[in-house]
Amino acid sequence: MQSPVDATTTEAWGRLSSLAQDYRPNMRTWFAEDPGRTERLSFTAGDLFVDMSKNWLDDTIVSSLVDLADQVHLTDRIDAMFRGDRINVTEDRSVLHTALRKPAGQSLILDGKDVVADVQGELDKIYAFARKIRSGEWRGITGKTIRTIVNIGIGGSDLGPVMAYEALKPYGQLGLECRFISNIDPTDAAEKTFLLDPETTLVIVASKTFTTLETITNARIVRNWLLSTLKDRGAIADGQENEAVAKHFVAVSTALEKVAAFGIDPANAFGFWEWVGGRYSVDSAVGTALAVYIGPDNFEAFLAGFHAMDEHFRTTPLERNVPALMGLLNIWYTNFHGAQSHAVLPYAQYLHRFPAYLQQLTMESNGKRVRWDGTPVTSDTGEIFWGEPGTNGQHAFYQLIHQGTRLVPADFIAVANPANPTRDAENDVHELFLGNFFAQTKALAFGKTADEVRAEGTREEIVSARVFPGNRPTTSIMAPELSPSVLGQLIALYEHITFTEGIVWGIDSFDQWGVELGKQMAKELTPAVAGNEAAIEAQDPSTKALIRYYRSQRV
Ligand code: F6P
Repeated sequence: MQSPVDATTTEAWGRLSSLAQDYRPNMRTWFAEDPGRTERLSFTAGDLFVDMSKNWLDDTIVSSLVDLADQVHLTDRIDAMFRGDRINVTEDRSVLHTALRKPAGQSLILDGKDVVADVQGELDKIYAFARKIRSGEWRGITGKTIRTIVNIGIGGSDLGPVMAYEALKPYGQLGLECRFISNIDPTDAAEKTFLLDPETTLVIVASKTFTTLETITNARIVRNWLLSTLKDRGAIADGQENEAVAKHFVAVSTALEKVAAFGIDPANAFGFWEWVGGRYSVDSAVGTALAVYIGPDNFEAFLAGFHAMDEHFRTTPLERNVPALMGLLNIWYTNFHGAQSHAVLPYAQYLHRFPAYLQQLTMESNGKRVRWDGTPVTSDTGEIFWGEPGTNGQHAFYQLIHQGTRLVPADFIAVANPANPTRDAENDVHELFLGNFFAQTKALAFGKTADEVRAEGTREEIVSARVFPGNRPTTSIMAPELSPSVLGQLIALYEHITFTEGIVWGIDSFDQWGVELGKQMAKELTPAVAGNEAAIEAQDPSTKALIRYYRSQRV
């Protein structure tokens, strides 16, 4: 694998550095003097309409960012990913989440095998399973139909399924619900199984590696809960445990031998492949809970949405390529204007877990300090992604975005047609909601001057406190509705934004070594936490004091 281009040594980086010197954004003037601005800086990708005109952009900056992408060979790297080159260098793996959503009938040969055929084969199994649960053909040990799916997983085996389940509630089958257990804090499993009927519950244990401490521990807890509750109510007798597990537990993993060792029949397991990263896996078997809930047709539409965005990213010239442009824009703010964080603000309550999902996608991918050849990065990497749905955020943290001292580029997301159209006596409530969406980006861009504040009759001493400086950059993303396809498009959009940034920084966006040390130390600390004196004494003073405090307080 060739070494990454050091983006900071390119001609385009130098040009962008000069453009950033003494940069003075002035959105009021830009919009007043250039009536074509919005049209030139708005783009479509699939069903998404993306208005980038309220950003610190002009034609020169856009073309310089595109030149930067060319000079780091972004297009070649996109081709390498889609082709299945082993671009996840530190794990020596291909990166082929895009193959998960290739339509049936296409093919992609990797190591002599057609991975698209493998994907379609696994999807057929998942869909057959989904149909059995949804139709009531699959029954629990006492003959009852399944009403609750409990997904046990963490990280990519949790955040994607939860986010998509919440986002696609209007598409779910009535009478079915999903619950998600992720945290090893036993409260999570206790709360999610509280008052749950095991006879109508199906558990999906989702773990790519099937070694993750949280997931395996929670799977054991829930298996004990299920078997003991069934026994307590006389629903099963001793000796029926395996049969009950077979009727109430399925697994999702790339490690099917470990699934068998746990006691789940591999016939009840859905597989995926090492070339699917955990945070890129919601469209693999990891999405099984979602496929059951929304049904195979909707899941197919979800995959088709991803694929539409993949094709846009793979084939659209960079000047109009939305994920590439949004990724490059993030580079502009992060590396040339010192932005540290990036807000994602969905004006769609159903997307309330989308920012949390994006935190893993973007920060586990691009929070790196060495490049894919092991050399140190040459610029800042990895923005801190965060956000909450509007309008809730408006009443919490928007103050800082409007009037604080930090630069916080923000993506605003909204759909034209609500899932729950509602009128009160005076208004279409969705229009009240959208009024806020439109108002916020307008206020952030154009602000309010001291003279405008004075003209409202404000007393002079508080005029400055009421000034809005404006020029706060935002990107608005709109779609007709939050359908399964649009959700797939949105997820793939951010996957490819993340990829674009990773290429400019020269990093491997597909490994996650930074999660390992904490896991290893947690294991090593177990004897000390359990009270082994020698193990406690061997700790550093701070850790020792904390463990001693814990030991002194436990009842
Ligand atoms: O610890 C981080 C991580 O490896 C994530 O990358 C992954 O999504 C998560 O743990 C869960 O891993 P698994 O699906 O193997 O249980």
